[in-house]
Amino acid sequence: MEHKWWKEVVAYQIYPRSFQDSNGDGIGDLKGIITRLDYIKNLGIDVLWLSPIYPSPNHDNGYDISNYEDIMPEFGTMQDFDELLKQTHQRGIKLILDLVVNHTSDQHPWFRESRKSRNNPYRDYYIWKDPVDGHEPTNWGSYAGDSAWKFDPVTGQYYLHQFYESQPDLNWDNPKVREEIFRMMKWWCDKGIDGFRMDVITLLSKPEVYRDGPVVPGEKYAFCGDFTAHGPHEHEYLKEMYDKVLSHYDLLTVGEASRITPEEALKYAGNDTHELNMTFWFDHVDQFNSKLTRWTYDKMKLSGLKSVFSNWEKALDGKAWNALFFENHDQPRSLQRWGTENPKYFKQSAKGLATVLLGLQGTPFIFEGEELGEVDSTFTNIDEVNSPSSRIAYQKLVEDEHIYSKETMMDLISRSSCDTARVPMRWDGTELAGFTTGRPWIGINPNHREINVSEEEKDPDSVLWYYRKLIRLRKKIPALIYGSYSLRNPDDEKMWLFDRNLEADHENKGDHLLVLVSFSEDPIRLTGKDREDIVGAEVITATFHADHCDVIPPFGSAIYRIS
Ligand code: GLC
Ligand code: CA
Repeated sequence: MEHKWWKEVVAYQIYPRSFQDSNGDGIGDLKGIITRLDYIKNLGIDVLWLSPIYPSPNHDNGYDISNYEDIMPEFGTMQDFDELLKQTHQRGIKLILDLVVNHTSDQHPWFRESRKSRNNPYRDYYIWKDPVDGHEPTNWGSYAGDSAWKFDPVTGQYYLHQFYESQPDLNWDNPKVREEIFRMMKWWCDKGIDGFRMDVITLLSKPEVYRDGPVVPGEKYAFCGDFTAHGPHEHEYLKEMYDKVLSHYDLLTVGEASRITPEEALKYAGNDTHELNMTFWFDHVDQFNSKLTRWTYDKMKLSGLKSVFSNWEKALDGKAWNALFFENHDQPRSLQRWGTENPKYFKQSAKGLATVLLGLQGTPFIFEGEELGEVDSTFTNIDEVNSPSSRIAYQKLVEDEHIYSKETMMDLISRSSCDTARVPMRWDGTELAGFTTGRPWIGINPNHREINVSEEEKDPDSVLWYYRKLIRLRKKIPALIYGSYSLRNPDDEKMWLFDRNLEADHENKGDHLLVLVSFSEDPIRLTGKDREDIVGAEVITATFHADHCDVIPPFGSAIYRIS
């Protein structure tokens, strides 16, 4: 397998609004991030991904961009950015930015022009359609749950917005749009950034014909993503992006690709595709996503989780490279979702999830706070919630349609709204968690007195120390990076047991590791070949006394070398 630097790194996602405030306005900022770079370095991180830092009206916290080539004043200045980039590089860390080019903000100058008249030079930068029988051009619903079309009385046409109505979709069929975006990307690359996380990258190319789609019973609209993902010119446009921009630099590129299959992923990021390095897939979280009318909380079984990851590991092995994550700014925390609900085992279970994430083949992405074993924040009142989609859902399901009681809905929001993970980083146990000296833009998780960086720093047995150890191990042991994955126990609901096998070749000595993680409150007695392999194996790391041990304690994890 070809060795690449971006296969060997561990990445860390910062949600800048929530990471560190430096001036007491309650909003995280770039200067704040600079003061925490040593923490990130110490964790062993090689690549930082920043969620959007550009000027934005913040209807979608920066994913609605009004200027691609500047910094949001709340976050600082371009000088601060240059300083951040310099200091990141000085520590040997790379910096990648969020590239959000499926849509802009409706306050972007292109859209302000575009909506002025039907023959404005910027009209075709966006997707405008005539009404059909006085209605929306199609019955598509947006990701936010409302119609994906917004009528603009100024010119009597609708524009397409797959996300909030303040995020009109760009028209990628227009070569001028592509040129502008590519020029902007080069501008950032020339500044010295090291790559891009590409927002909703599979949605760029829209269908040639716009048609109504079937509506699921109980829903009002046909979901737009079913018509726009992997559009007819998608790969052509990404290859053009590669030729004109990406291929001229040495970058890490990862595309956000919800609802993608491994087969599709090979087209975007196969070894010789010349589009992206890797894609984020969402099979482990999509099933849980909250839709406007369906807020549910289903816990995926361990066998399901294993099957999803194993499927991707197998399908891409040797043909493409995986991007691995359990958490990001759109998802609730992973511990209560796949680990345990029992606080007694939070710590062990968080270490177990870390062992999986860093033990699989692929580039791991850690979301701020995940390295502390952070759990979901709780909200008791909708006023405490920032996320527009959660607020829209609350209005509809509680106030308008009385489908849920306030308590039930707040419980659902606490468990599945993106806000549960967007609350500020907990640096210490003081009242404002060391995040700010002012009033935080969103409430701090009340558990910060127990779970925070400063407490975990003091405790060599903490989740934080464990992440540090695993990240360092991963760098020392090539089999943890390049070894092939295979699952031993697909149907077992208590344990995840997999091999990482590295064949000897001109670059590597052969090596064979076994990764074991218990997801059970009961001790597990090993039997048969697993027992035989494990009892005599070299223990590389473990959260329990693993030498010659054949009973795995609750939520125990270990990595072994089998000779
Ligand atoms: C992605 C982002 C999400 C954002 C959406 C629209 O899914 O991760 O936060 O709302 O794209 O840009
Ligand atoms: Ca600030």
